[in-house]
Amino acid sequence: MASLLRFVFIGDIIGAPGIAMFQKWAPRLRERYHAQAIIVNGENAMKNGMGLNAKIIDLLRESGAAVVTTGNHVWDQKDLYAALNERDDVIRPANYPPGMPGKSYALIQVQGQLVAIINLHGRVYSKDNLDCPFRTVDSLLTFLRTKTNIIFVDFHGDATSEKRAMGMFLDGRVSGVYGTHTHIQTADEMLQPKGTSYVTDLGGCGALNSVLGMQFDGMLPLFLQHRKMGKMVVEEQPPFVLSGVVVEVETQTGKSVNIERIRIVDNEIHV
Ligand SMILES: [Fe+2]
Ligand SMILES: [Fe+2]
Repeated sequence: MASLLRFVFIGDIIGAPGIAMFQKWAPRLRERYHAQAIIVNGENAMKNGMGLNAKIIDLLRESGAAVVTTGNHVWDQKDLYAALNERDDVIRPANYPPGMPGKSYALIQVQGQLVAIINLHGRVYSKDNLDCPFRTVDSLLTFLRTKTNIIFVDFHGDATSEKRAMGMFLDGRVSGVYGTHTHIQTADEMLQPKGTSYVTDLGGCGALNSVLGMQFDGMLPLFLQHRKMGKMVVEEQPPFVLSGVVVEVETQTGKSVNIERIRIVDNEIHV
């Protein structure tokens, strides 16, 4: 009988509310779903929502995260750069230009099985100087598929089209492709024809009544008055939301056999 592994993936953690939600819910989700590993995107976990630091990675690890993925905000905190180089439990998108700090994939042991997590960034609507994520993942897979067939991709990007295309591009070659970055969960979780589970966006973890996890009042001028940016402050009032998926993977083939969305709204957290 083929053995199965279950993984929980959680989307962008935003500020103190996101960390608090993860601290409360990660252990419960692990138990509820009998999950063997949790992977979380931490790119907005600083108190101001901009990036993360080594202490936050430690906090997420203590609550059960095996690997912390990131995105465009990974460069916001310069004091993280040394940790990005030194640590194996935090990764950044692979398709930034050569010479940037950090690693773009992680290899972890889960119940005696080697599991790879890749981080990529979309190019559509992105202002960053990025290489092609499709060609980048192609070349990473030529190497990683010699190591394991249990491989997951956090594809950090804006456009649903590009994320959907990546999901189909990698169908049958990785176990799962899950989008991050929009902080809004999509309801299109699916098993693709060749066994790669997919969701366009895992969603964010932070204040529910917010824009991207930020206070509405600070974000409004951006839309109402064509001001470049209002004062962006992380919203810390409840209720809070935590979003992601739980997936089940056949260890022998690396194929997903189930994917379910997770969305928890909680009024009880005091940040
Ligand atoms: Fe984000
Ligand atoms: Fe982002």
